[in-house]
Amino acid sequence: METHKQLTIGLFGFGVVGEGLYKVLQQTPSLKATIKKVCIKDPGKKREAPAELFTTDRQVILQDPDINVIVEVINESGPAFEIVSTALRSGKSVVSASKKMIAEHLPELLQLQKETGASFLYESAACASIPVIRNLEEYYDNDLLHSIKAIVNGSTNFILTKMFEEKLDFHEALLLAQQLGFAESDPTLDVEGYDAANKWTFLLTHAYGIVVETGNLVFSGIQHIQAGDAVVAREKHYDIKLVAQAKKLENGKVAAFVLPQFIRHDEPLSFVRNEYNGVVIESGFADKQFFYGKGAGSFPTASAVLSDLSALRYQYKYEYKKLYHHIPHELTDDFYIRVYVSFNDWKYIPRDRFEWIEEWHAETDRKYLIGVIHFREIAQNGWWKENGTSLLLTPDPVIEDVEIRKLKKKSLELAGIV
Ligand code: HSE
Repeated sequence: METHKQLTIGLFGFGVVGEGLYKVLQQTPSLKATIKKVCIKDPGKKREAPAELFTTDRQVILQDPDINVIVEVINESGPAFEIVSTALRSGKSVVSASKKMIAEHLPELLQLQKETGASFLYESAACASIPVIRNLEEYYDNDLLHSIKAIVNGSTNFILTKMFEEKLDFHEALLLAQQLGFAESDPTLDVEGYDAANKWTFLLTHAYGIVVETGNLVFSGIQHIQAGDAVVAREKHYDIKLVAQAKKLENGKVAAFVLPQFIRHDEPLSFVRNEYNGVVIESGFADKQFFYGKGAGSFPTASAVLSDLSALRYQYKYEYKKLYHHIPHELTDDFYIRVYVSFNDWKYIPRDRFEWIEEWHAETDRKYLIGVIHFREIAQNGWWKENGTSLLLTPDPVIEDVEIRKLKKKSLELAGIV
């Protein structure tokens, strides 16, 4: 039987996640993992750990032959990538929580893993405590994944919960998310959807074998949502959530985006409040499954790093099965979506580009419509993010070409035209 590897860790970063891991490891002696050195940027900061543990020189860790595992949990993606690539090249295993770095360098990281054969694990970068990557890799190791719909950013979910359920204003809610260690050090990454979109890029790789840059995904955060949108949501018995979604269409291509969305109260994601994340997977025979857990914060994130460390004891690696062992799927923007749009003036809304408009309310200062539009009108144009316009997806927003034709025919029949 293979003996379990002793893990000697070099840790980069001692912020919310790094310190969390340090504490969590002290409580899990059975793992046989010890932190030998921690590389930090600011030696002046007071830290609750022995001073001799720390260094500011990354080479002390990278060149130490005793250290066989690098845990990289720093903020800046440039240095993070340098550390991770050097470590992989020197045959060390790496565990990372750097979502932005992974999203920005995925093709190079895939190549490095191929070349070096070293393990590179990053479960904590996706939904913190929810083991979604390993599930997509191992459990859904087939072609039957119909769709994934997920809340992958804890801070924005926390802010929406505090604003709409507890009536805090946006800035109070954001401050609280920062104080609790949920938000990024640059919180616009959370608020404007970058963090969720970054996570969605590599989740698409594990789910569908798609490799896409964040900038090529359609995404937005919660920055355009207006108080009036919450009023409409309440009237219609919906919640508003920032949702990352991917759906396999009938032609086998995948529709994917990260946008705020109305969620019905009976949908599992409606249950996801505060800093929790949730993932709803629909697959061929299992039908719907729902994963739920804390998506941000020190210990929940450290728990996933710990689980990756534990997996290293048996040399676990991601195989990227959907990318290498199946025919990878392609992204498409050729589909329609049903949207809710609120706005101050009709002149900002390209009414003629909608296939049809189902509802419009122009009686108040804040006007809104619900209608169906081709996804490219969103993907290729910015009207929905400008001039105080707010766009939210309706429940089950994706409509395929075949359905559109049926729906159009039906409406013409109803109108007595055919
Ligand atoms: N800022 C991130 C979030 C941290 O709020 O989800 C966890 O990735």
